[in-house]
This record gives sequence, structure tokens and C-alpha cells, in this order.
Amino acid sequence: MKLPAIASDRLPALLAAMPKAELHMHIEGSLEPEMIFALAERNGVALPYASIEELRHAYAFTDLQSFLDIYYAGASVLLKEEDFYDLAQAYLARAATENVVHAEIFFDPQTHTARGVPMETVIRGLSRACADARAQGTSAELILCFLRHLSEAEAFETLQAALPFRDHFIGVGLDSSEVGHPPEKFARVFARCRELGFHIVAHAGEEGPPAYIWQALDVLKAERIDHGVQAVHDAALMRRLAAERVPLTVCPLSNQKLCVFPDLAQHNLKRLLDAGLCATVNSDDPAYFGGHINANFQQVFAATGMTAEQAWQLAANSFEASFAPAADQARWLARLQDTFERFAAPAEI
Ligand code: HPA
Ligand code: ZN
Repeated sequence: MKLPAIASDRLPALLAAMPKAELHMHIEGSLEPEMIFALAERNGVALPYASIEELRHAYAFTDLQSFLDIYYAGASVLLKEEDFYDLAQAYLARAATENVVHAEIFFDPQTHTARGVPMETVIRGLSRACADARAQGTSAELILCFLRHLSEAEAFETLQAALPFRDHFIGVGLDSSEVGHPPEKFARVFARCRELGFHIVAHAGEEGPPAYIWQALDVLKAERIDHGVQAVHDAALMRRLAAERVPLTVCPLSNQKLCVFPDLAQHNLKRLLDAGLCATVNSDDPAYFGGHINANFQQVFAATGMTAEQAWQLAANSFEASFAPAADQARWLARLQDTFERFAAPAEI
């Protein structure tokens, strides 16, 4: 496809305006401090922080685990179906303003069922927000994630509890503390999920080694790798990811905040694209990492000097990497082309 030339000063606005899919966003990670305090009040939950400012101050992370400890504590205010609805509704409304046309949203049911919240409460609240977003023109789906620091037996129990609601989610994923919890620990539960017809994704190669990415592909049969940035340390793996167009859902601000890279200028997103991988840009946990999807695009482009051509590639990749029907992907791609043509015509802006 021939891309129109676009002036570099228009790149930040183009990144915001272009249609895109978000494929790596944990709904619990969209919980803003303001909503944590509002829900704590509504539900009578005591918080160990005196103010929103004090809570925000605690958001200084050194690695994945230091983030997860605070992230799970924040989610403790979510109790009722209405809370899950409000959370997802707020994310989807924000995503629509950022020109996200399709979102595949992760949720962590074990974080909630462990506190006595029924599976039904979690799924019905999130699913209703997705249905409302669809009615307003944003495509939205759910992906259930198993917490890898817990056992495979607990993942099986979670799957069992979720099966009465299987029509409400399209896939399963694997998240939480990566190092020490390799994908192969969950081989049997993912095999069962494949039999049941779910899409399969897994976090791998965020902090963990390339071997975890191989396992996610070969043992879990993951269709996408979440993060995957450590793949650059294994040339054979890079060749395979490129040859098979296995998507990587990359999250630049997350990687910066969790010190996966010393700074954003060192991020390897451009290198992944240059190697022919189907990389995408996503926000991971926008309330904790300082920005939603457009901020991720704008900041990583500014820090690494990527171009409009790479912007087009990343948005096109996000549609290709999605589990949406081909007809929807084609429609979004046409809208992407329209946006680029609009930005190439100075008189019209
Ligand atoms: N990695 C692993 N687990 C997570 C993340 C992440 O980036 N965000 C929320 N849960
Ligand atoms: Zn994640």
C-alpha cells in the first residue's frame, strides 16, 4: 500500500487520530487512584493510604513484582457487579476517545475470587460494559488470565468456575510474576482451554528469558506473545517470530516504569519492527504506568525517532494480531488509510 508523505510535526496528532486495536490492557490496571478512593468509600473498604496523592506516590516501581504488589492491593476495592461495570465502562469510553476501534481486555478473576467475589459478578459486570461499548461502535472482547504465581490446580478451578460464562470471553492468557513460573507449569490447563476452543495468549519475555517465549509457543500454543521484548536475545527465536508473524503486544511505558529498559530511548520496538515481527503498541496498566495507548505511541516515537511509516505498520499490525473477524480488520485498515490521506493534505487540517 502506498503511504502518503506526512510532515514530522504532524506525527503526534496522527498517532492519536489513527484507528488502532488495543490487545494488551489489564482492566484492573486501568483503575485510577480517584476510582480506588471512590469505590473504597462506596463499598466501605479501608485503604492503607490517606489520600490520592499518597497512593500515587507509592507508584515508584523497580521491577514487575514491586508493581504487582500495589496492583493487587488496588483491586481490593472491586466487590460488586456495578464496580466491574464502571471500571470497564470508564476504560472503554477513554479508549474510544483515543481512536481504539477494538479492544481485547484482560481480566484476572483469581484476584477477585480469592477475596470472595463470585466469578459471575466479575464476568457479568465486565461483559455488560463490553456490550454497551459495542452498541456505541467500539468492538470489545474479554480474555481471562490465569495468575502464574498460583498453581495449575488453581487455574483449573478458575476455568471450571468460568465455564458457565464461556460465551462472555474469547480467550485465556497467563500473567503475574513471570520469573520462576514458566509457561510449561500450565501445560495441561492450556491444553484443555484449546480443546474448549478458546484463543490462547501468554505473557512471556517481559522479564523472563527467551526460553519462556519458546515454551509459550510450543507448549501452550500461544497465538500471541504479550510483551516478548526479550526475544531479541535469541536470533533463532526472532527468525521464527518473524516467519510465523507471531504478534508481540509490546507496552513501552510499562517497560520503562518496570525498568525493563533503562529508558524509553533504549526501547527495542523499532528493532522488532525492522526484523519483520508483528509488533503492536499497548498500554498494559494505564493507571499505573503514566499513560493510555496514545501516550505510549507518542512517547516511544518521540524517544526513538520512529516515522509515520512505522505508525502505519503498528496500527495495521494491531488489526492483523487481533481475534476480530477478517471483514472488521479490512474495514479498520481502510479507515487507517483514510486517516493517513487526511493528514497528508495540509489544506484540510
Ligand atoms: N506482567 C505480568 N502481569 C501483569 C502485568 C504485566 O505487565 N500487568 C498486570 N499483570
Ligand atoms: Zn500485561
